[in-house]
Amino acid sequence: MSRAESTFQSVFGYAPAITGRAPGRVNLLGEHTDYQGGFVLPAAIPQQATVSIGKNGGHAHRLHSANLHQTLTVEVGEVGTGFAPYLTGSVALCGVHEALDIWVWSDVPSGGLSSSAALELATLRAIRELYRLPLDDVQLALIGQKVEHEYVGVMCGVMDQMASSLADTEHMLFLDTRSLERRRLPLPSGTQILVLDSGVPRRLAGSGYNERRAQVEEASRLLGVPQLRDVHDVSQLSVLPELLYRRARHVVSENARVLEALTADAARFGTLMNASHASLQGDYQVSHPQVDVLVALLQAHPQVYGARMTGAGFGGAVVALVQEGQAAQVAAEVLAQYGAGGQMVVP
Ligand code: GLA
Repeated sequence: MSRAESTFQSVFGYAPAITGRAPGRVNLLGEHTDYQGGFVLPAAIPQQATVSIGKNGGHAHRLHSANLHQTLTVEVGEVGTGFAPYLTGSVALCGVHEALDIWVWSDVPSGGLSSSAALELATLRAIRELYRLPLDDVQLALIGQKVEHEYVGVMCGVMDQMASSLADTEHMLFLDTRSLERRRLPLPSGTQILVLDSGVPRRLAGSGYNERRAQVEEASRLLGVPQLRDVHDVSQLSVLPELLYRRARHVVSENARVLEALTADAARFGTLMNASHASLQGDYQVSHPQVDVLVALLQAHPQVYGARMTGAGFGGAVVALVQEGQAAQVAAEVLAQYGAGGQMVVP
């Protein structure tokens, strides 16, 4: 019996019927483009969410978080609060109406590495198997995104759920978030990914995220295009008012960076990551002064090709492309200079 199964048993008194797992993700390039039909380049990280499920035969779900040491009881058909909506939303959107016991545990750090998508996809995978639902990995990701929209209240794009459902830790997943066409690509040769947690808790991430999204929607409306994906040259943006111009310039230039990165060598890929960070910091304004310090330390390191914030921003994690075999050494040196609060997440 796995640790998940035996812990489920000690909480609920019987063995679970099924266990599902799904990873967090780190995004290498293509930030804040996925709600404008753009391009992204995430990879899965080794950390994952684990979800074990049994049927309890009653009228209410019992939801246990091993991270929080907390059990919530939520009537079937209700949403619940705290971590419940991720689970009740996944159950309901799969059309399941019977009462379940659900045990969850995750080692995906919160803050830019898609801990929510990992939880949703682990739950959805378990439910798919338990009820033998004819859903493919893309459909599962789209249900996960719907859970965010309808149950959690975050108007996210589709990158995180697609990455958790379809990416692996050995490749970058090049995803066109409009067509959902995708390709697994190798990292630039001679490189590896390093992920550090800045130790800055994310603040205002929800409201800042929805505000940015509204701004770029307004920009595309003023430009008369369906999405900023349809703008290929920043010179077309000059009709926009200053703030919207900067927001849109980030999205349009970020899409171009992702497309260029597909065939870039390590040095060029790193330069594109650095440019992405500058754009997120200056034009999109979703970085944080302490995150900028950590990114600058990484960028200055001789074994680092490039570095940037990753995920929605406002604190959280940073990603660097480093020389193969050097990640742990780079992390130790950079974190010693950075000081309190920083941690290595993925060497
Ligand atoms: C969050 C969202 C994603 C994406 C990123 C920013 O992770 O869930 O859909 O928009 O922010 O790139």
